[in-house]
Amino acid sequence: MMRDKLIQLALDARENAYIPYSHYAVGAALLTEDGEIYCGCNVESASYGATNCAERTAIFKAVSEGKRKFRAIAVAGGMEGEEPKDYAYPCGICRQVIKEFASEDFRIIVAKSLTDYKEYSLSELLPFGFGGESIK
Ligand code: THU
Repeated sequence: MMRDKLIQLALDARENAYIPYSHYAVGAALLTEDGEIYCGCNVESASYGATNCAERTAIFKAVSEGKRKFRAIAVAGGMEGEEPKDYAYPCGICRQVIKEFASEDFRIIVAKSLTDYKEYSLSELLPFGFGGESIK
């Protein structure tokens, strides 16, 4: 099933996280409207504010390859070398970036494992969000 695949890829993507400062590894797997999957990890910087979250890494990879509409994202995070202990919810900046490119029925899956996950709509995680339609 597609959800299982996204969760497994998000768990796998944690392996590539560049996390010398927080040691907190996040992986994301993003499903495009045309059925492709782009993965991402968090990439930290010694100038902490320059850090990029796993979700935005996946989204920016996809957008830079010409994809503009997404159906779902799975996210998994936990301390380096450990299985996730908690659900890793997308940060506020990532929720805003998700809004930019999300389909109507976009799903956000936060997973500790293949069998332990929660699933949300974007409006559950970003109610009353600000989007492009507001400035047309
Ligand atoms: N992080 C993500 O990758 N995604 C989120 O939604 C929240 C935070 C990363 C950024 C940083 O590398 C580490 O987690 C600790 O904040």
